[in-house]
Amino acid sequence: MSGKTTEIKDPENMSAEPRRFAFDYSYWSHDQFTENSEGYLEPSGSKYADQKVVFDDLGRGVLDNAWKGYNCSLFAYGQTGSGKSYSMVGYGSNKGIVPIFCDELFKAVEAKRINAGADEEYQVTLGMLEIYNEQVRDLLNPKTISQKGGLKVRQDPKKGFYVEQLTSCPVNSYKEIDNKINEGTRNRTVASTNMNATSSRAHTIVAITFTQKTPNETGQSMTRTAVVNLVDLAGSERADSTGATGDRLKEGSAINQSLSSLGNVIKALADLSTGKKKTVVPYRDSVLTKLLQNALGGNSKTIMIAALSPADINYEETLSTLRFADRAKAIKTTATVNESPTDRLIRELREENARLMEMLKQGGLSPEMAAALIGGAGGAGGNNSANSGKEVEEMKKQLEEQVRKNQEEMENMKKTWQERMQENKGSISANMEEDNKRQEDRKVIPHLWNLNEDPALTAMVVHFVNEGTSKIGNKKASPPAEITLSGLSILPAHAVVTNKNSNISIKPMEKAKILVNGQRIIKDTQLHHNDRLLFGANNMYVFHHPQDEAKNIKEGKKTETPTFDSAQEEIAQKAGLMNTEGKSAEDMILQEEVVQMLQLVNEANAMSEELDKKVKFEVALMSPQARGLKDGRTAVMVKMISQVNNNEWMWDKNKAINRKSLMQEIYQDFVSGEENWDVPKEKDPFWEPSDQEILIGSAHLHLMSLAHAFDIEETLAITDYKGKEMGHVKVTCKPCTKDYKDLGEDDFVDEPNEMIGKDFYFILKLENCRGLPPNIAKSRCKYKHYTDDKFTETNEVESMNPDFNFEKKYKQTPVTEQYINYLKDGSIVIEVWGRQKGDSNAGAPSNSTVASKGAKPAANNATQQKKPDNKVNNKLKSTPAPAPVPAPVVKEDPKIAAELDSYKKRTNEAEGKLGSIQDQIAAKRKNGQTTITIEELEAMLGGNVNHTRNENLGENTSKACVIQ
Ligand SMILES: Nc1ncnc2c1ncn2[C@@H]1O[C@H](COP(=O)(O)OP(=O)(O)OP(=O)(O)O)[C@@H](O)[C@H]1O
Ligand SMILES: [Mg+2]
Repeated sequence: MSGKTTEIKDPENMSAEPRRFAFDYSYWSHDQFTENSEGYLEPSGSKYADQKVVFDDLGRGVLDNAWKGYNCSLFAYGQTGSGKSYSMVGYGSNKGIVPIFCDELFKAVEAKRINAGADEEYQVTLGMLEIYNEQVRDLLNPKTISQKGGLKVRQDPKKGFYVEQLTSCPVNSYKEIDNKINEGTRNRTVASTNMNATSSRAHTIVAITFTQKTPNETGQSMTRTAVVNLVDLAGSERADSTGATGDRLKEGSAINQSLSSLGNVIKALADLSTGKKKTVVPYRDSVLTKLLQNALGGNSKTIMIAALSPADINYEETLSTLRFADRAKAIKTTATVNESPTDRLIRELREENARLMEMLKQGGLSPEMAAALIGGAGGAGGNNSANSGKEVEEMKKQLEEQVRKNQEEMENMKKTWQERMQENKGSISANMEEDNKRQEDRKVIPHLWNLNEDPALTAMVVHFVNEGTSKIGNKKASPPAEITLSGLSILPAHAVVTNKNSNISIKPMEKAKILVNGQRIIKDTQLHHNDRLLFGANNMYVFHHPQDEAKNIKEGKKTETPTFDSAQEEIAQKAGLMNTEGKSAEDMILQEEVVQMLQLVNEANAMSEELDKKVKFEVALMSPQARGLKDGRTAVMVKMISQVNNNEWMWDKNKAINRKSLMQEIYQDFVSGEENWDVPKEKDPFWEPSDQEILIGSAHLHLMSLAHAFDIEETLAITDYKGKEMGHVKVTCKPCTKDYKDLGEDDFVDEPNEMIGKDFYFILKLENCRGLPPNIAKSRCKYKHYTDDKFTETNEVESMNPDFNFEKKYKQTPVTEQYINYLKDGSIVIEVWGRQKGDSNAGAPSNSTVASKGAKPAANNATQQKKPDNKVNNKLKSTPAPAPVPAPVVKEDPKIAAELDSYKKRTNEAEGKLGSIQDQIAAKRKNGQTTITIEELEAMLGGNVNHTRNENLGENTSKACVIQ
């Protein structure tokens, strides 16, 4: 970052020119900061831009414009963890734009109010919503949060798209708005845990409507309104980093629909503003783009913050964010001041309502009329020419809603602000009191506070452990539990927690899953300050004991406050999936992936169980060798196992993430009572067809013997990723002549390098597999030789003991040093792939239409993953990992075995030749002869004494030797 420019360098090509992007502002906040005593991060170097700088540059402009009556929008875009929420909302003392904006707004309002006349009013209302998986949730109305399908998005001919029945809460001070935003965040936390949703996939919109009613010079009341949309977008991970190349269901997820539509809208708008020919801007493609229509291309002053994570591994992602921002920069919106005489606004609303009512009264509403009136349908899709009864009904509903909305707006306009505030006062002050009490109680009463993957949703939910016993259970508990948790694997009666003279213990009920500090508990267990508790699959809490904490401080004992990441790592460690010694960057990445996948697997298992999908999941570590690579990274995979027939499918990380999003969608529908929550198996993320090809295992054929031109004839063990034997494959490699005929008996090569420069031919035969697992219906082998790009494949054969009878001729003309090195050290990895009998959640034969859609084999993704990093020497490989993820086992080093074999063959040949020389000598002696000619010796050695040897013998190669 330098001035207004952001530069980015490709970490894999540091000598290349950096790419430069110019923006209105560029901020660096990655380092050069210190934390002061209040926890505020302030600059310790000249580069660091703190929250104040960002607000002064961006937030203040929004504030000024809101006062002038312009609609304003500010949205934060960027990958997960890049700092969107930090900039928009902030954490602790590091308040972001939203709270500072609210604070400054009310400071200015209060200053105005001091000298305001009776006819002057300054009104602020707050709305807060979340878009998750194309569904809108009103975060200020917990009752609607788990409503089926979310709230409806409708269209108003003047104001554009809006959310039907969204709470709009009048607020009168910073404290009130802060309290309401906290309430919204708390509701969001509970909803995301309840539905097992990934919060970084949600878009959050805080909408502040600021209305000023002031008399103009002539004394006429004027209403000036500004809608300020503050948008924290979902993480922008590109399709190929979290998407699922290789998954037949890759198109299925709606999770990112809003974000990809946003990209399309921005592109279309950028094209329009750079003068490209008229394009239709696809606002209607997603809920987000509908709601942001004004912000993006209409009456609004709009700012976009592009948040970046400047680590090497985020290069691609960062570049794509910068490109996105660059495109957005080209868009020009046209904001106008929203100011009208108050009377006129009221009159217009009244007139419009009269028209609408008249239409409704006539009953015989034609869709064309309705569509013309309301601007072409809203949430229902907008087919103007439709004339089905259902659509007329829908139109009617929209009209009624519009009438209701106008009515409400009219009444609000007529009411004084005092009257409106009075209506809400009770609930707001009760809320604030409750909040204050909660904060005070947290200082003295032991309690559990939540940990969430999203730091913005951490410590939002608190459950107190009062003196005596309290039951913990889900909403179905009868009588209701004192502490209610909802979410995956929470039982109606889950646990009992006891507080006896400040000694706290917890006892799980039968079958209830609770981990304390990563370890499953089955009996009453005492809790200590900062213990980590996982209830079910995804309710993570920290136990806070104020008295214990005070004691610790007194005794000078320091305890770290747990974080979501540290608690997840602990679980992975206790499950034997972490190597604490691994400290290299690659180890850290691997460990992170393991933690991520373990969490995913736990949740997927809980969902499978609740939805009765009859499959279970495991984390699997696959060594590069098991994936057919000589070296590289260990891959973290997820194995799905059918509980019906024990069939197995291996998913790579991307596929697992994609599948989990789809599982969450189904689960969300299930939780919100959607009748048709289940999907046909072709779309079911818990289902795999039987004819999905799977990797049974692989065998390594070492080529050392070929380097000496010896035959190889091996029955190799096929091992799976755990090192378990899955059968055998019979393979031969036979060096041969140019015409692929047998070599002579003595054609072996003593020193492989002697082959360099000569031609080499051999035939590879893959004869059969034996002893494959009984659930395998069909199988085939594939392998790559030397520098092959593509796999060579045998036919697919239907049998547990398939005969492939495959052969392929190879030639290397001439042999290079590199090829010799390949033969000496390398191997051919023979991958054995198969199709199982029966699919994943039914014993019935599979639905072949699914497989024929050209799905790639699941486990094949492993080999399609990122380029393996040869430098990585993964320590996890050698970790003695307990079940369920054992490290690959090598029973006997096949390379050494091949070498030994080749030496044995050479020794045998040499011994044979020595024997024949000795026999000749003995025969000559017997005949009284004492000399033997070189020609005779050569004949005995097979006539093949090579050039190097001849040289060693001197120039006169036909000189006679004397038998000593
Ligand atoms: N400017 C900054 N200075 C210091 N710390 C920051 C800054 N920006 C972000 N962080 C820290 O980085 C972490 C991730 O930031 P944040 O939660 O804002 O990411 P996000 O973009 O909202 O991610 P998600 O898409 O998952 O919601 C937080 O712990 C936050 O405190
Ligand atoms: Mg965030």
